[in-house]
Amino acid sequence: MNRSQADFQVKPHLNNPAGDETDHSVVPGPLFFRDRDWHPPAYTPGYKTSMTRAPQRALVALGSTLSEETGPAFGHSMIGDLDNNLIMNFTGDPAIGERIIMHGRVLDETGRGVPGVLVEIWQANAGGRYRHKKDGYLAPLDPNFGGCGRTLTGRDGSYEFLTVRPGAYPWPNHVNNWRPMHIHISVFGSGFGQRLITQMYFEGDPLIAKCPIVNTIGQDRAIQALVAPLDMNRAIPMDCLAYKFDIVLRGRRQSFFENRKEGL
Ligand SMILES: [Fe+2]
Repeated sequence: MNRSQADFQVKPHLNNPAGDETDHSVVPGPLFFRDRDWHPPAYTPGYKTSMTRAPQRALVALGSTLSEETGPAFGHSMIGDLDNNLIMNFTGDPAIGERIIMHGRVLDETGRGVPGVLVEIWQANAGGRYRHKKDGYLAPLDPNFGGCGRTLTGRDGSYEFLTVRPGAYPWPNHVNNWRPMHIHISVFGSGFGQRLITQMYFEGDPLIAKCPIVNTIGQDRAIQALVAPLDMNRAIPMDCLAYKFDIVLRGRRQSFFENRKEGL
């Protein structure tokens, strides 16, 4: 995500051989080994849409430009008070559903938190219906639920949303396929070229193992990295449950990202 944090390690300044911890310079360091089998192949007929989306010719590498590497820059002033509160941020009246806190940290390959990352989420309502003109599922819209939120990670890479648990929904893939309960997530680093997209699932959902999209992922450990455990330590009595979901940008514990194999 953040190139300076992911690709470099901090060493004592050359002019400060005593290694004063307050005086650092950044020099290149080795990358962690990547497991190339962590991500699924692009062509997976069980997920029908992949058959037309998968590249049919050899990939061509495109260099990034300055605008993709340096922008956008996100400031806290652009984030509204209710932007990470999906229960209240659509109309100001509460949405219907099982109230949950979704929280975690955005981490780099060494487990360090990555600050200032824009985390955006979107999801179906408690009945499994998106507020989108192309969603024709018969579950009703909730007039008080928009389904979108955003926040910036704190200094330790932490983030938090208050929302309702989304319902499962059917989708036109093969016969009688259902998506497990899930929340879509986008993370932005310091440039447009660093946008990453993934999904969070919920511990204990029996539909996870039956989902054709989930099953494009070959390794069970990679799937489990997308499943948020119930976190009763963060649940609020008589108010909401909590689920913990750390997003790892690269390395052996990396989250599976839908749009990039490398996760960077
Ligand atoms: Fe979805």
